[in-house]
Amino acid sequence: MAEKMDKNLDYANQKQEVRIDTSRKLRIGFIGCGWIAGSHINSYKKMQDVEIVAGCDLIPGKAAAFFERNGVEGVKTDYASHKEMLDDESLHLDAVSVCTYNRQHAIPTIYALQKGVNVLLEKPFTVTLDEAVEVMRAEKESGKVLSIGFQPRLDANMQMIKKIVDSGELGKVYYIQTGGGRRRGIPTPFGTSFIADETAGLGALADIGCYSLDMVLNAVGYPKPLTVTGYKSDFFGKDPASYPNHPEYAKAFSVDDFAAAFIRLEGGIILDFRIAWAMNIDTPGDTIILGTKAGLRIPSTDCWNGTVGGPMKIYKTIGGVNMTTEVPIIPSDGNLFDKKIRSFLDACKNGTPAPVPSSQIIYNQAILDGIARSARLGREIKIQIPKI
Ligand SMILES: NC(=O)c1ccc[n+]([C@@H]2O[C@H](COP(=O)([O-])OP(=O)(O)OC[C@H]3O[C@@H](n4cnc5c(N)ncnc54)[C@H](O)[C@@H]3O)[C@@H](O)[C@H]2O)c1
Repeated sequence: MAEKMDKNLDYANQKQEVRIDTSRKLRIGFIGCGWIAGSHINSYKKMQDVEIVAGCDLIPGKAAAFFERNGVEGVKTDYASHKEMLDDESLHLDAVSVCTYNRQHAIPTIYALQKGVNVLLEKPFTVTLDEAVEVMRAEKESGKVLSIGFQPRLDANMQMIKKIVDSGELGKVYYIQTGGGRRRGIPTPFGTSFIADETAGLGALADIGCYSLDMVLNAVGYPKPLTVTGYKSDFFGKDPASYPNHPEYAKAFSVDDFAAAFIRLEGGIILDFRIAWAMNIDTPGDTIILGTKAGLRIPSTDCWNGTVGGPMKIYKTIGGVNMTTEVPIIPSDGNLFDKKIRSFLDACKNGTPAPVPSSQIIYNQAILDGIARSARLGREIKIQIPKI
């Protein structure tokens, strides 16, 4: 007999005994078969209620090679575009993973939603705010599930940040400093798709900046951004010395490798943000959340990998005495990518809300877009989000 999933599953604390309804298999397609598609397929393969039925990539033969390499047989891949695949009604697709580079996030997602297919879209949401608004309009029209691929949300330590804020121990939060990055780490694993404007659209700002923003905005309830003063630079990206094996990449580099911003959020919160793929320092600082009753320090990591960099600390003054409480790291209880895929599948099956909803991530995208626009204009700008 079919088991109904608990609608309020806490995925970060999910234990392996959760039972899956295998009587109904979801038919899954892939749009984009590059690097991150590899993590999606690894997780889908572990799910007993999934059948991978189709995949496409703009590069001829790439999808077929991808499924062969991953040992999945019987997948249809003879499509020249995502449109051809989504038009193939014989597939009866329930959901697609959109694993394309940033500039190709919006177009296939909108088309899939228009075709009545649920979408798990990789982060960042899109490149521009206008694209994100168009995607949300298609989502609203379709009534389908759209979830954005922020797997760090499902880490128990990340969830602890939100629990601390929600507990009220910090008092009223008025200032947040966040960001991070790498001393050297411009991503060019399989070519230039992360560093060329025509494929990536934005650099470090969106690639890892979206995670830092999500960590703190989710913790404080995703307040609406009001204004932003942004800065971007590309000193390392344009330097051939950054690519000892591929100096020609310096010419292809046409996004940012560093960004900083000062953002005003609704509710009187100031957000101070900086992010880097490359810089002459080990870290631009820990994340800190300052409240009227206590402050929280979240140690940075040397590379954005979806974890908290060490035990967090809460600073509080009680009876005139300054106290510091350490929050121990919660050990991992499973693969975050598996949880990302499982939580998306459960939302599709049970008709429950998307685990990482566009209604929140639109504010993340508005900030990224605002930083890029403000940096171009050289002044503070107001953030205006069109009606969806
Ligand atoms: N969640 C994570 O931890 C994580 C990690 C890495 C990358 N990502 C995100 O995943 C996305 C893809 O990154 P990647 O490293 O796999 O890039 P990639 O360049 O390795 O792969 C992207 C693939 O998409 C294909 N493609 C582009 N547009 C297409 C379309 N319309 N139809 C079919 N195929 C299309 C390209 O030909 C390419 O093969 C990026 O947006 C990136 O930010 C997320």
